[in-house]
Amino acid sequence: MTLPPCYTPPDPDPDDDTPPDPSRRAFVLGSAAATAGMLVAPLLAAPAPAAAAVKAPPEHATKVVLNVNGKAHELLLDPRTTLLDALREHLDLTGTKKGCDQGACGACTVLVDGRRINSCLTLAVMHGGQRITTIEGLGQEGHLHPLQAAFIRNDGFQCGYCTPGQICSAVALLHEGHANSDDEIREWMSGNVCRCGAYTGIVAAIKEARKTT
Ligand code: FES
Ligand code: FES
Repeated sequence: MTLPPCYTPPDPDPDDDTPPDPSRRAFVLGSAAATAGMLVAPLLAAPAPAAAAVKAPPEHATKVVLNVNGKAHELLLDPRTTLLDALREHLDLTGTKKGCDQGACGACTVLVDGRRINSCLTLAVMHGGQRITTIEGLGQEGHLHPLQAAFIRNDGFQCGYCTPGQICSAVALLHEGHANSDDEIREWMSGNVCRCGAYTGIVAAIKEARKTT
């Protein structure tokens, strides 16, 4: 007999004194217990995570002083470290996002001496002494940058992953004077991709901030 997909075996009749059928239900319960044991046992047996390993400086480490959001940070970096990784991995400034890591999405946009750049495409050691601004340096809670406030008011984001890059890019866009029409904003923001498609709100936010900055 073929049972419907929603079939649930009936509970045993309390007045029925025939021995329980050990087949299907016992098998399912036994399998679940065995599987849970297999999953949990290794966790219990696993050694406690070691204390945070102290990272030795990489071979050929290079000293660089990064001036980020008005604060100087002296770092010893592998010279191949990108600015994006230096910000996120060494300075814990994780507002700057890593999307594609190859210059195609703009999620990693930061400002260097006021110019917007993709921080995944440049090496940290190239920016010693320059003025680097990330999303954390634009505004604080309660004192948002006008563009941050405008993004909130105009629903300029959905998941928010691209937003720090969008806002940094938009700050530079306004300084460049490239926000004179919707088409111009779209063109000059085209290096910042939003996978959620929040472009209507992004353009509206930039237009609003243009009036107040
Ligand atoms: S992460 Fe840098 S452009 Fe995509
Ligand atoms: S808000 Fe989700 S990627 Fe832009």
